[in-house]
Amino acid sequence: MDRVGSTGEGRTRAMYSFVCKRSCPLSTLGRATLATSAGTQALVVTEHSETVRSERHGEIGVIVVDNPPVNAIAPSVRDGIYSAVQELSADEAVGAVVLHCAGSTFMAGADIRGLGARPTGRTTTEISAALEAMRKPVVAALQGNALGGGLEIALGCHFRCAHSGTRLGLPEVNLGLIPGGGGTQRLPRLVGVEAALQMIGSGKPVTAAEALRLGLVDRVVEPVDILAAAVAYARELRDAAVPLRRLSEVAPPSVPDLDALLSSIESGLRRTRKGEQAPLKAIEAVRAAVTTPFHEGLATEARLFAELENSSQSRALRHLFLAERQVAKLRGIPVDTPVRAVRRVGVVGGGTMGRGIALAFCNAGLPVALVENEPAALERAMAAIADVHAGALGKGRITAGQHAERIARIRGATDMSAFAEVDLVIEAVFEDMALKRRVFADLERICPSHAILATNTSALDIDAIAGATGRPQDVIGLHFFSPAHIMRLVEVVQGRQTATDVIATAMKLVKSIDKIGVLAGNCDGFIGNRMLAGYRREAEFLLLEGASPQQVDHALVGFGMAMGPHAMGDMAGLDIGAAGRRRRRAEGTLPDDPRFGVIADKLVELGRLGQKTSAGFYRYQPGSRDPLPDSEVADLIEQEALRLGVTRRQVSDEEIVERCVYPLINEAARILEEGIAQRPGDIDVVWVNGYGFPRVRGGPMQFADETGLARVLERLQQFGRQHGPLYWTPAPLIERLVAENATFATLN
Ligand code: COA
Repeated sequence: MDRVGSTGEGRTRAMYSFVCKRSCPLSTLGRATLATSAGTQALVVTEHSETVRSERHGEIGVIVVDNPPVNAIAPSVRDGIYSAVQELSADEAVGAVVLHCAGSTFMAGADIRGLGARPTGRTTTEISAALEAMRKPVVAALQGNALGGGLEIALGCHFRCAHSGTRLGLPEVNLGLIPGGGGTQRLPRLVGVEAALQMIGSGKPVTAAEALRLGLVDRVVEPVDILAAAVAYARELRDAAVPLRRLSEVAPPSVPDLDALLSSIESGLRRTRKGEQAPLKAIEAVRAAVTTPFHEGLATEARLFAELENSSQSRALRHLFLAERQVAKLRGIPVDTPVRAVRRVGVVGGGTMGRGIALAFCNAGLPVALVENEPAALERAMAAIADVHAGALGKGRITAGQHAERIARIRGATDMSAFAEVDLVIEAVFEDMALKRRVFADLERICPSHAILATNTSALDIDAIAGATGRPQDVIGLHFFSPAHIMRLVEVVQGRQTATDVIATAMKLVKSIDKIGVLAGNCDGFIGNRMLAGYRREAEFLLLEGASPQQVDHALVGFGMAMGPHAMGDMAGLDIGAAGRRRRRAEGTLPDDPRFGVIADKLVELGRLGQKTSAGFYRYQPGSRDPLPDSEVADLIEQEALRLGVTRRQVSDEEIVERCVYPLINEAARILEEGIAQRPGDIDVVWVNGYGFPRVRGGPMQFADETGLARVLERLQQFGRQHGPLYWTPAPLIERLVAENATFATLN
């Protein structure tokens, strides 16, 4: 067997080529003596599983985990480490042990795909215990990310040596979990209750420097080979016979008023992680660390972990973790599709969207040319942009140097000739087809021939816009969400003729500015706004039927939405929806239903455009964004109901949620049938990241699966019987999945 290996003594993996002479194969395990091609060095390597091997570096035993890309803790990793511990414990020639991971990162946590399944082999808790029980110093060599179970295993080691760029964290709450490998018991013993709960409750990693300050690591090394540094450290520890530090044997910290501390942490977490169960369970587990013996605390942790692992919240959050990474995979477009270089960006239009888009690119380091045709409008846009930069500086988010760079990076102009050298331009002018077509005809003339021409339209036909140019293959939709420099979602909308490399470039560019790009097909409203139409429609119909704006909003916020639909309408501006309805009415694509958008249209007629006019579905005190109920609106709703002959009644909160959320699911099913979205997970990513759908419910598709598609179908049919088939005819895809006893998840 030929292999490429490393002595680990400060060398990269590719530096030595070894010839491996496999000797005494031990059933599934293998032991091999590796010699350099020059025959000058020998290294005994034992393979413990397909992802773990042990090596001898002189008298130091090194356990190497090698499970690309992030060394996730799969069963073979756990079993392999356990086996290596047994081997190295028994070998008297080994004076100390280093736990190291190949590649650029330590273990980034449990294998998320394996969570929720019946565990096989050794557990992370057992691995930590086995490492801790060793009678020779064990050093964890940390680099890249030491997260979740990775950090828990490192806590089982007696000492931790970290590369200065390491991030250490327990991010399990982001997956609806708590650390389940002893982390809730060992961490407070090492860094104290408050710091431990700060890490576990927030899920945020700390830097190596911060970890050193907390006592979480014992040594931080500057950019040198982490394995060489850890091996040297292990030698020092062995030579100095430093007592081994087993955290399970350390007394828990004494906290004078534990109840007061935990209840203040709890109220903070109830605020910052509203509706999430895991952070509260983390507090319970840490309380057990302080108030019960180590083994009892471990049992409490295991019980709470198991409860969470089987919860709908954790299933939803795990689903989203994977879905948010899967969106980048484009069906039918190979990953190695050549992309165009985008070094300079142009933005047309200095309104809210244009400013936000310019900021998004500028903050990510790309120079931007922003064009507004009116000097006064340009001045306003540049002043608003300067305000955002000043705010970031004032809050200490950027340094004075970064502030100056950002200011210099956006160049304002009143003439499109500023786009003569851009690689990509985004149009963000008013949603008017004729205007957009004029802009695109100009862009084609002015921009270089390799440039991508993008539109930020939220609903208009990309093909019609592309048709205004002679190069429709270069035209694509990049639908940002407001405020564009903050919201992470971007719908990347593919026209009929958009070139493959343009799609691949746009997806990569969006990722490079730290946004989540979701590929969508071209239709009215694409994925997100097309679904929103049904949600908003029902939210308004419910007003006519007897609910108040505040009841509808309250019920949906109770479901977990970031904002109620009416408060959201007021924030976005009711004139935008009204303009969309006017357009669709003219096109003949609006449903023939006098109730459709009637309240919002009347509000717009009365000049109540939302927050910007201090009145919409709610009224607002000057300078305030707090929505206040308004009797004028209540009267208007009653009059309209009377005029339209709608009988008013008591509406329950449960009905509000079902009436608004089930149309999302039904429309999403049609979007999937038509191939507008690649997969159900993409739709969830859109709604969670762009529309405030609760993360703990995983998005509309995951929510439908959790609810049960049979139940969803039954309610759609029931609403159809009550309110007519116009809006409630179930999508054939839902009927098929129910008939096959399948779920949306099977289509991911
Ligand atoms: N289990 C399984 N797969 C994982 C994983 C895990 N714990 N962590 C990352 N991956 C996979 C991703 O799905 C992705 O796969 P893909 O290339 O097929 O899409 C790949 O590893 C790279 O991850 P990505 O997030 O795209 O890379 P990154 O460099 O931006 O971030 C991490 C790396 C480790 C910081 C990030 O992946 C992360 O936070 N992972 C989860 C950590 C965690 O929650 N651990 C606790 C688990 S209980």
